Amino acid sequence: MTRERVIVIDFGGQYNQLVARRVRECNVYCEIYSYKIDIEKIKEMNPKGIILTGGPNSAYQEDSPSYQKELFELGIPVLGICYGAQLMMHKLGGKVITPEVGEYGKTEIHFEQNGVLFKDLPDTAICWMSHFDRILEAAPGFEVVAHTADCPIAATQNVEKNLYTVQFHPEVLHTQNGTQMIYNFVRKICGCEGSWRMDSFVENTIEEIRTKVGDGKVLLALSGGVDSSVLAALLAKAIGPQLTCVFVDHGLLRKNEGDEVESVFGKGGAFDINFVRVNAQKRYYEKLAGVTEPESKRKMIGEEFIRIFEEEAKKIGAVDFLAQGTIYPDVVESGLGGESAVIKSHHNVGGLPEHVDFKEIIEPLRDLFKDEVRKVGLELGLPEYLVFRQPFPGPGLGIRIIGEVTAEKVGIVQDVDFIYRDEVDKAAADYKKEHGCDPAWKPNQYFAALTNMRSVGVMGDERTYDYAVALRAVNTVDFMTAEASEIPFAVLQKAMSRIINEVKGVNRVFYDLTSKPPGTVEFE
Ligand code: XMP
Repeated sequence: MTRERVIVIDFGGQYNQLVARRVRECNVYCEIYSYKIDIEKIKEMNPKGIILTGGPNSAYQEDSPSYQKELFELGIPVLGICYGAQLMMHKLGGKVITPEVGEYGKTEIHFEQNGVLFKDLPDTAICWMSHFDRILEAAPGFEVVAHTADCPIAATQNVEKNLYTVQFHPEVLHTQNGTQMIYNFVRKICGCEGSWRMDSFVENTIEEIRTKVGDGKVLLALSGGVDSSVLAALLAKAIGPQLTCVFVDHGLLRKNEGDEVESVFGKGGAFDINFVRVNAQKRYYEKLAGVTEPESKRKMIGEEFIRIFEEEAKKIGAVDFLAQGTIYPDVVESGLGGESAVIKSHHNVGGLPEHVDFKEIIEPLRDLFKDEVRKVGLELGLPEYLVFRQPFPGPGLGIRIIGEVTAEKVGIVQDVDFIYRDEVDKAAADYKKEHGCDPAWKPNQYFAALTNMRSVGVMGDERTYDYAVALRAVNTVDFMTAEASEIPFAVLQKAMSRIINEVKGVNRVFYDLTSKPPGTVEFE
């Protein structure tokens, strides 16, 4: 493949994916590799640039993640960020120390006029610092091009060798003009043309799918989530009626979701494909009757999904390809790419079906980040409500109903959730209209759950004994940690009042203030 690329070498920093995303925002394709990657493999890939990420270790210690010096002699421009900066200095003869005090958070920084990375940017700015160790002496041949009050060597460069370091994190949005610095590196220093665009991705991928699939048949389990919907649309454009999508409605979807998915992908929709909707609601409710333990519920929902999918696949008969909506963070997090090998196994709901007859798996979205998947969705003409759907867990409302799941409870939580999302969306849109930007409290995920608690209330002149629902909203970068969103009280109150008035069976509304940790985003 001759695709122009920059590689990110991951030393275990928390922002590794963010670095790659910023590079891609500069229209340059970028991949993340562990620091264990063989130098021969790097030479083979012949990247236009290399970025070394941050990491939690001390560069001068023997057993810390490292890289051989030859990396800096390949003639490929290298940018070291934080730990990557310290490592480069250490390897090339500079000195790194562990001082008495570290430097964390927003920090004022001053740039020298000749700093190539900071060309045409203001010479004073705010940057994001997060380091304990620092560089005491730059390596021979390097000049210092930035400093802060506590960090005299905040950036260095060796222009002749095209080697650059920054102690701060340009990939973090708190760093003013950070993306421009990354742009300066990848586009100006590395000379990348910037040909990574989603319209050409769509065009090229459609061609690739056609070549690979030929006149074969492809099967896709469509969940209605962003990734599988975009994949369905992409495959539909590429191979049309050779694609069969199986959509299992397990009765644990959000309000109207099943019909929305069917209206886009089913008969009369925008795509000429085979669409099978399996209405398995009753089957699920029967299966889930009496089951209260969260893990058992999750397992049962996942396994039943696979079973139904297999049954449908058998009806279709042998297919050549099974398509999967794997995206790049899945690849990185499963340890195939970068260093941070953390995956939540429960997120691979059920895994691969065993008895489906197919020859090969295809994963056309494997190289994309979520925001890129959304852009592809828009390119393909999918409706915005599908493309910008918030994350929704595989076990669906099953894990948002504490205790036993029943059809009645599903109905309640669907209605409550619908009202709540509607009010949050309206408030966020109003704010945006007035201020021209999203409110700081705009949550990344927000939904309602049904607690298993009933309590006494009074409505009109009647005593009630109904359910309490919990509203949840979180602000998060990666869903590994999260804070409860500071939704304005008036918005919550409006949602509460509508919920009590419009949804039968609910007489109490809670707002969940718990962060993650110690809580999780979902309730079960
Ligand atoms: P937790 O509850 O683990 O959620 O803090 C973090 C994010 O993951 C989603 N989530 C799931 N997604 N299958 C999924 O596909 C699951 O079983 C599952 N459990 C949680 C959750 O919605 C949040 O975005």
